[in-house]
Amino acid sequence: MGHKAPELFASPEAIEQAVGRVASEISQQYPDGVVLVSVLKGSLPFLADLVRAVDITVEVDFLALSRFAADSGRVRLVKDLDCDVTGRQVVLVEDIVDTGLSLAYLMGELRRRSAASVAVAALLNRSARRILPLEPDHVGFEAPDEFFLGYGLDWAGRYRNLDRLVIGDPDLLADDPDAYVSMLY
Ligand code: IMP
Ligand code: MG
Repeated sequence: MGHKAPELFASPEAIEQAVGRVASEISQQYPDGVVLVSVLKGSLPFLADLVRAVDITVEVDFLALSRFAADSGRVRLVKDLDCDVTGRQVVLVEDIVDTGLSLAYLMGELRRRSAASVAVAALLNRSARRILPLEPDHVGFEAPDEFFLGYGLDWAGRYRNLDRLVIGDPDLLADDPDAYVSMLY
């Protein structure tokens, strides 16, 4: 009760524009097509809009990571790709690049499998807490050091299905994961 509503960061229109720009960058970079590898689950809305905005042939595939422990930077693959990326041009599709630890692991893994090239498209790029010096090649929005919800991004599984990006308060959400439900839906 009496909680401050989360702040709007990007409207559906702003997201559509950013996704359109990323799609034209990718279309220009890969005229012969590309494999888009979506990192589940946060990148799902971004991937769905991106595949319809590019004007090249794309294949899509999915993988999922999990942390070894809640606060650990170490990750492991909990769902692997179906396709063989050997010799393929690959673009990893991420919701947000934060520390860069997930990304470093995934890039290493795809290179180990002899992908011809591996690039990264991130809806959000939050550089403030970067640990490894990695930069996504295609970025929807440069993000301030805040916590984001919506358009795929979640807190404890909630809020992924918002059509916009909002900035939330992690302390408030830690007390009550449903704190924003009545304000946002
Ligand atoms: P990192 O770059 O390895 O630190 O991990 C980034 C991952 O953490 C993302 O793919 C998200 O799943 C999650 N994450 C990081 N920041 C946020 C946020 O602001 N909102 C929701 N999920 C986040
Ligand atoms: Mg993620």
